[in-house]
Amino acid sequence: MRQKILVSGGAGYIGSHTCVELLAAGYDVVVVDNFSNSKPAVLDRVSRIAGRDVTWYEVDLRDKSALARVFAQHTFSGVLHCAGVKAIDEAQRFPLKYYQHNLEASLTLIEAMTQHGLRRLVFSSSATVYGEAARVPYREEAPLAPNTVYGRSKMMVENVLQDLVQADPSWHIAILRYFNPVGAHSSGLIGEDPSGIPGNLMPHICQVAIGKLDELAIFGHDYPTPDGTGVRDYLHVMDLAEGHVKALEYVCRESGLLTLNLGNGRGYSVLEMVRAFEHACSRKINYRYAPRRAGDLASYYADARRANEVLGWRAHRDLSEICTDAWRWQSQNPEGYS
Ligand code: UD1
Repeated sequence: MRQKILVSGGAGYIGSHTCVELLAAGYDVVVVDNFSNSKPAVLDRVSRIAGRDVTWYEVDLRDKSALARVFAQHTFSGVLHCAGVKAIDEAQRFPLKYYQHNLEASLTLIEAMTQHGLRRLVFSSSATVYGEAARVPYREEAPLAPNTVYGRSKMMVENVLQDLVQADPSWHIAILRYFNPVGAHSSGLIGEDPSGIPGNLMPHICQVAIGKLDELAIFGHDYPTPDGTGVRDYLHVMDLAEGHVKALEYVCRESGLLTLNLGNGRGYSVLEMVRAFEHACSRKINYRYAPRRAGDLASYYADARRANEVLGWRAHRDLSEICTDAWRWQSQNPEGYS
């Protein structure tokens, strides 16, 4: 009998790539997603890649009775909680929505797990919880001081999980702090499909390359970085997906709380990303310099050693592979999943 894993937000960008990796590792997958920022078609693609079916339910995690019906139909070995909303600007304007979808939804899910005696959980957090207080490279022990509503909503869930383990050490929980996931599955069948004009760098570059957008605005070129543009720790989404499977294996073995950075451990500038992408797609990416974006930090990247020590995981796909895979997805699906 295969072990069955519940993946919340399994149709999203991270969730879908993680489902592919879970299926490849021999798990059965059940997805719950409210499809607020994704489409069921994603899961058909996941099934195509894996050669196996994915069971899914359209469920908002805050809907206790709908969630209870899913738990009543399946016996899960663990939960990967990837569901959430993540647009920084929107979060500043609609904080309540962010606390409802990120915090309240997490509480409902944890409550359902408790009722079914299920205590194995991997939670999608973000490096954005460090904020400005930490020094680069960020270590997991660094102080947390997120400067956005989105970051605070993630930190609050982390706090809940810490308290949970404190009160009941029989929980098995891993908190994964993602740096900047980019790229796509090498099949070109799944990738990032933002609605509207993409706020993040990589999907914006992709849409300039395909001709949907005229140019990239580079937010700031006077940062104290080697070329003046912002530096981030970009990692391939399939490396991240592999990290989830390893974290799941860990929580199946060990109790307590594990908090890990998932990053590649080095930073790349916006200009480096543009050049790597131009090389991968053999096209010119038009860009112009624009003022800094409010809330952006100059440079941050992970100290990724703990994930390597504890899980034996590291990001091994390089920038060229990231850009080649992102371009394959974009060029084969110019309109995303629609
Ligand atoms: C952002 C979020 C972070 C979230 C992550 C992944 C902020 C402050 N942080 O991280 O919480 O986890 O996305 O969803 O928004 N850039 C441009 N032009 C663009 C877009 C981006 O120059 O059109 C630059 C940014 O200034 C930054 C870099 O590219 O230096 C990466 O930006 P982005 O992809 O938005 O990620 P983060 O800001 O690191």
